[in-house]
Amino acid sequence: MAYQINLSLILVLTIVSVCLPWPSLSVDPTPLQDFCIADLESKSPIINGFPCKKPADASSKDFFFEGLTKRGNEFDTLNVNLTQVDVFAFPALNTLGMSMNRVEFLPGGLNPPHTHPRATELSLVVEGKLLAGWVSTEYILYWKVVSAGELFVIPPGMVHFQLNVGEGRAQFYASFNSQNPGISKMAPTLFDSIPLIPDDVLSTAFNLNDSVIQLIKSKVAHLGR
Ligand SMILES: *[C@@H]1O[C@H](CO)[C@@H](O)[C@H](O)[C@H]1NC(C)=O
Ligand SMILES: *[C@@H]1O[C@H](CO)[C@@H](O)[C@H](O)[C@H]1NC(C)=O
Repeated sequence: MAYQINLSLILVLTIVSVCLPWPSLSVDPTPLQDFCIADLESKSPIINGFPCKKPADASSKDFFFEGLTKRGNEFDTLNVNLTQVDVFAFPALNTLGMSMNRVEFLPGGLNPPHTHPRATELSLVVEGKLLAGWVSTEYILYWKVVSAGELFVIPPGMVHFQLNVGEGRAQFYASFNSQNPGISKMAPTLFDSIPLIPDDVLSTAFNLNDSVIQLIKSKVAHLGR
């Protein structure tokens, strides 16, 4: 009898688990082949990720990336150089569910509040001192001044930033559990979108009048995206 109950319990649990959607993990799906070097030029429809180059056309050079051997020498208006090593820069990452960024800072440089909508970030500081922080969906700020050798982790989709608070340059390497984590910066998302969000929406949301909203829009547009 007990045996029969267990069997029907297992049957019910199996049916329930098959009918439930897969857990909504935001990691990229597991590949179905050794590799699938992205054919970025392919005209085939993109389903999720890029179509593969023919495996026979792969060579060693496809699996190596030299774009991080040189230091950044151009910095944006916030004194940061970002080198993204995602599937667009390194097509061999296609379907492998990982990628990397290097972020370099001049003194005072700021990697402004942003999210990576498709990935968790695990970062290693290799130079300088950074004030690194992120804000949870409970609006709690978690932060620390980190220096060479220290790691920090940003849960998927959370708003985060780093400010160079040291005397010299700073840099860290970020790894992501997605070939294409994406970057969504808060300031241009709200104040420099295409087309712009209407002033009424922003003035109500921020409890500011239209002239202040227009001022913020013009300042943010000057920063660039
Ligand atoms: C970062 O520096 C590299 C190497 O000098 C340069 O190719 C790249 O354009 C720079 N990136 C930005 C966002 O300025
Ligand atoms: C808008 O708000 C700012 C800041 O509160 C204030 O200084 C300014 O006079 C206001 N402008 C108008 C047109 O109400």
